[in-house]
Amino acid sequence: MNFNKQIGFLVLAAWLALASCAKKDAEISKTNDPVEARVDSLLALMTLEEKVGQLVQSTSRWELTGPVPAQENAQLLLEQIKKGEIGSMLNVTGANAVREAQKLAVENSRLGIPMVFGYDVIHGYKTMFPIPLGETASWEPELARASAAVAADEAAAAGISWTFAPMVDVSRDARWGRSMEGAGEDTYLGTVFAGARVHGFQGDNLASISTVAACAKHFAAYGFIGSGRDYNGVELSDYTLHNVVLPPFKACVDAGVATFMNSFNEIGGLPSTANENLQRTILKGEWGFDGFMVSDWGSIVEMIAHGVAATPSDAAKLAIEAGSDMDMEGNCYGTSLVKLVNDGKVDVKLIDDAVRRVLRVKFRLGLFDNPYLYCDSVREKERTLTPTNLALSRQIAKRSIVLLKNDKQILPLETKFKRVAVIGQLAADKDSPLGSWRAKAETLSAVSVLEGLRTAYAEKGVAVTYARGPEYTDSVNVFSKEVRINTTDRAGLPEAVALAKNSDAVVLVLGENCYQSGEGRSQVEIGLKGLQLELFEAVVKANPNVVLVLMNGRPLDLSAVVGKVPAIVEAWHLGSESGNAIADVLTGAYNPSGKLPMSFPRSVGQVPIYYNANNTGRPNPGDVFWSHYTDSPNTPLFPFGFGLSYTTFEYSDLSLSANKLTSDKPLTISVKVSNKGARDGEEVVQLYVRDLVGSIARPVKELKGFRKVAIKAGETKEVKFEISAKDLAFYTRAKKWETEAGDFTLWVGTNSTEGLTANFAY
Ligand code: NOJ
Repeated sequence: MNFNKQIGFLVLAAWLALASCAKKDAEISKTNDPVEARVDSLLALMTLEEKVGQLVQSTSRWELTGPVPAQENAQLLLEQIKKGEIGSMLNVTGANAVREAQKLAVENSRLGIPMVFGYDVIHGYKTMFPIPLGETASWEPELARASAAVAADEAAAAGISWTFAPMVDVSRDARWGRSMEGAGEDTYLGTVFAGARVHGFQGDNLASISTVAACAKHFAAYGFIGSGRDYNGVELSDYTLHNVVLPPFKACVDAGVATFMNSFNEIGGLPSTANENLQRTILKGEWGFDGFMVSDWGSIVEMIAHGVAATPSDAAKLAIEAGSDMDMEGNCYGTSLVKLVNDGKVDVKLIDDAVRRVLRVKFRLGLFDNPYLYCDSVREKERTLTPTNLALSRQIAKRSIVLLKNDKQILPLETKFKRVAVIGQLAADKDSPLGSWRAKAETLSAVSVLEGLRTAYAEKGVAVTYARGPEYTDSVNVFSKEVRINTTDRAGLPEAVALAKNSDAVVLVLGENCYQSGEGRSQVEIGLKGLQLELFEAVVKANPNVVLVLMNGRPLDLSAVVGKVPAIVEAWHLGSESGNAIADVLTGAYNPSGKLPMSFPRSVGQVPIYYNANNTGRPNPGDVFWSHYTDSPNTPLFPFGFGLSYTTFEYSDLSLSANKLTSDKPLTISVKVSNKGARDGEEVVQLYVRDLVGSIARPVKELKGFRKVAIKAGETKEVKFEISAKDLAFYTRAKKWETEAGDFTLWVGTNSTEGLTANFAY
């Protein structure tokens, strides 16, 4: 048992012993009062110390999702909870543990205010779904909604009432390990998925035992950190902030998200935690958000390191004034706010506003009516990791896979090849597919590719054999999750090559260990690491029929392999049912339909690379004086929105209901999509628009709509989109959202670089 675990168990044992049945000595108003009245009447009873307590969040000591807390005194934490000095905890999980912790607060503190328990339920609680970036590749927001709903149901059965998700940071930089947590590079796609995920987590009733409060994070611009290095500073214009970064957050507010989390980064020197414009003016003012803003882990105290505060007290003052309502593991609010108010340095009205926001969410969650609402251990057993949840996971996983290459229709394998070799450490990996941020997934609980293929081919006359090849990882530290990649030990290589030679086809699984992505896991190289390229070269030399299956948490640089292999399948970290889903696609039981939510670069030197860039003044090839690289094309290897199918789709008959859009009448755009192949398939039909002349430069293309449609072999379907004037609005030079009159071009097609085109005016 590790140190943290021991401390955790000690704390738990102490809780059990110390929990007394002290009665609260104050009355709060009755259950059926509207929330606002109940909040007011409770607030009126609270001392300043009790108010500040509501703004403090502390982690359990047995699970840490950030640096080890400075305050390692477990006994002190117990006392604080009993005195009502801790309004929320994170990383306490399980119906029984949460019940015990809750008892301490409810039965001992003067007002018996329940704590709210938060946890990072990012892509599943026990049943793991694809990492969010992978799930977004489905281009099916209803799937994201469904997985979030299941994650919420499982988590809520285990005591959790609040998830720190969805992460809605637009991310254009594959070096950033946290790209895996979001919806990729596009604002529109991110906006649609943001709303779906909030609806999934929260349902339509926060007080239901199957839902949890969601948290839109990280506010804001965390995806734009310099050089892709986690926690680094951000430089971006006000236009990019409004046009690119903020819309997914606004979508969360529109979907009724209960909470927000701010971000570690500073923007132009001002940490988000101290950014009044973002948190008060925009979020709570213009957008009317009435929930609360939690800081990120220590982001308040870290303002000292940023160099904008000299002491924890300064940091607390900056943060509360800027609208950061709850201090996650910063130890600033609890130690400083009471004194700051008493000394007249912070207005108590700011504290009241923050507390009101926290209480509002607690009332909405039903915690005042039953503090143990989410603490039913029988339900916890019944609801988690059920066959239905796993079936949904498989369904979503297979629909998230992207077919990047398929020369000569080598895929699907069906039963074409009688001896199929499966090669690579990742092929038998039962852990990496669970992904980073895997909440309470059981270690090694994923179905591996090898298992998936063996099951799929059982009794089908196809022999599936396995060679591990050289180890990819030397070690993965179970506590720090640090990955060491093997670069020297080639044992296993000859065996893999021999197997490749003696087989009819090879499924070669390469990519990344799951802990190469996630928080704190930025990389300067994003190609296939370790001895993977050596293995690749040897295997493709030994056998021409190689299908490369990739498992990864970020876009990879595939330049070294793309031309040397007939088929490439992008399979992310797909969750509990990963291997079965991959087998569904490889064997042909499912015809792949995913599309990339982030561009795959030709080299890391192109990063950040994204399809919706502004034009330059010199976009056209000519002599040397145009915007280009002298050693690489500008274009990515695989563009945003790209993905193949086992069938082919042809687009025709693009038509517009008018060639002028007016503010009172949307434009209808229709196109015919024909399935020209012999298999039924699904196509993500994508609509892009360019605003040709604007008050500021406009992107060369922007996604404005998409539909995933099932089209039978030989069938043609008409697909329609509607565009209204407000869909073309942007944050203009006048610094407001407007639709500017002028000419527009649109494209309807299969990815961000192909499509039929038409023009219209507004
Ligand atoms: C830090 C991460 O940035 C944030 O996303 C997460 O929710 C918190 N830690 C809590 O684990």
